[in-house]
Amino acid sequence: MKDVDLNKISADDWDEMTFPRPDECDFDRVVEAALSRRGFLSGLLAFGSGAAVMGAGLVPGQAAAKEGGRFAFTPIGIQTDNTIHVPEGYEWDVLVRWGDPLFSDAPAFDHATGGDAASADRVFGENTDGMESFVVDGREVIAVNHEYTNRDVNLPHADKGVPTGAEDVEKLQKLQGVAVMEVTRGEGGWQVVQDSPYNRRITHLTPMDIAGPAAGHDLMKTEADPTGTRALGTLNNCGSGRTPWGTYLTCEENFNGYFGSTEEAQDQKPVQLDAGYARYGIGTDGWGYDYHKWDARFDVSKNPHEPHRAGWVVEIDPAKPDSTPVKHTGLGRFKHENAEVVLAPDGRVVVYMGDDERGEFLYRFVSNGSYTPGGPTEGLLDDGTLYVAKFHEDGTGEWLALTPETTGMDSLAEVLIFARKAGSAVGATTMDRPEWIAANPHAVEAYCCLTNNKNRGVKPNAGGDETPVNGPNPRETNKYGQIVRWRPADDDHAADTFEWDLYVMAGNPEVYDNVYGGSENVTAGNMFNSPDGMAFDSAGLVWIQTDGDDSNEGEFEGMGNNQMLVGDPVSGEIARFLTGPKGSEVTGLTWSADRRTMFVGIQHPDAPFPDGEGKLPRSSIVAVWRKDGAPVG
Ligand code: FEO
Ligand code: CA
Ligand code: CA
Repeated sequence: MKDVDLNKISADDWDEMTFPRPDECDFDRVVEAALSRRGFLSGLLAFGSGAAVMGAGLVPGQAAAKEGGRFAFTPIGIQTDNTIHVPEGYEWDVLVRWGDPLFSDAPAFDHATGGDAASADRVFGENTDGMESFVVDGREVIAVNHEYTNRDVNLPHADKGVPTGAEDVEKLQKLQGVAVMEVTRGEGGWQVVQDSPYNRRITHLTPMDIAGPAAGHDLMKTEADPTGTRALGTLNNCGSGRTPWGTYLTCEENFNGYFGSTEEAQDQKPVQLDAGYARYGIGTDGWGYDYHKWDARFDVSKNPHEPHRAGWVVEIDPAKPDSTPVKHTGLGRFKHENAEVVLAPDGRVVVYMGDDERGEFLYRFVSNGSYTPGGPTEGLLDDGTLYVAKFHEDGTGEWLALTPETTGMDSLAEVLIFARKAGSAVGATTMDRPEWIAANPHAVEAYCCLTNNKNRGVKPNAGGDETPVNGPNPRETNKYGQIVRWRPADDDHAADTFEWDLYVMAGNPEVYDNVYGGSENVTAGNMFNSPDGMAFDSAGLVWIQTDGDDSNEGEFEGMGNNQMLVGDPVSGEIARFLTGPKGSEVTGLTWSADRRTMFVGIQHPDAPFPDGEGKLPRSSIVAVWRKDGAPVG
């Protein structure tokens, strides 16, 4: 492990190095090449009578209908260069990039060092991800995540970016988390309003409250917080969500990588704590952040409960810059992607959430209380029931409640803290890495990107659950990913059963003439891999962002750089709208209040985007608009 450059491997691969899975499962493996592409589709991808309502999105032939479709642009081709491309008639510009001052007391960005620790929480953080826009007192405010740091870029003096002291750690801790910032469109285009009273940075050091059934439980208590109700920092903020009452939800994903142990003896390995360390990938070494060597809070040999205080969904009020963020334990602890909030017909709050790791689960929370506009919101993200999805092969599925009774676990607090264990206990369906979930505003249905899973049909998940191919995860060693969608019974997101189908299976029809060629709405002209970010626009079109293999070679030839596409839920049609710079992931999407601008996140470009040769690559949010000023979603 010591020879591995931790800057270059994925979170899942790192987890599997720390806690190796068995090489083989007992279950029968599927010989996927025996299945023809068309035969596979006609046999599996039917939404039954739903086709009449939702559109037979995958019926051969329909997807080819580009002319007269609902897209207001001519799709673009792939790109392999270092900049952004959008269709003819559209333009883009940078709104903000890593290191840009949010406050005038911060220095301008320093391309030699990436900035210093003192000002790291006064600037736009690194690696933009999920974001949502709000109108507060007539001003436009964007809340946006800073998922992680490229340590080798941020700590140029350090070998492979591994911190050399407490100041290095402080810089990294301050560059991640969340930014809240006012934006406005002036003569020079969209810009951040420096020193706006709404501007705020929330980091790995910011005090936050812990609410819900696990708050105050012994497993949440630490020496510094004997109440178990007050944590510091929000970690690895990936996807986002928004509540009907105007708050921002930031979702903690690969939080495990920040923890390690200064106790090196193998027999002291913290997995002995039976605290779910192995299931959550919490090891002794850390993922190169080395926080544990310089900040004892992250040293599990000293603070074994601290990791329990991460892996949650956190609520932030963008209208109240002095408010304390709240970790909502009712929503469960896992590697959260995003949190898609919808209301059931009776006003109960339903939150859909994915756990992004190979073979982990899809979750849903349903509140006990109901939301009424302007009414109290206390408890609506904590008092309720957490469920996990079980998909059946016949196109139906059900939500299984996670309670002490259904799981055999000792308390609701433990069910929530170790939600993965609870999901395994009830037999949840192992998924191909659930990323973003998005609900269609024009139909009672939700979509989830299942980004890829090379372990499908090969290895069990971290809990030892076998991962044979199954309905919504139908391909062994799934390199390309798919999008599953479901319609709840009775048009009620709080209903306990649903019907599902696959909206799209990504693939490469130029390379494969079988299931790896993708579903019928994937063509040589729109192909992509690893769907990740996703959001519906006001017209009911679904925007899909990718975080995949951009080598443009071999099985990925013809796919080019990561990209953003838009799909029609009814026709199944998918068209490429934007391509990102080489090495980047396109992630995070929101709109201006007048819907005439979309804001798109560009994360971890490895080329010198956007400042050009000789400059550091900088994760950025870009604004995209139509030249004729018409709405863009
Ligand atoms: Fe941070 Fe699963 O993406
Ligand atoms: Ca993601
Ligand atoms: Ca991803």
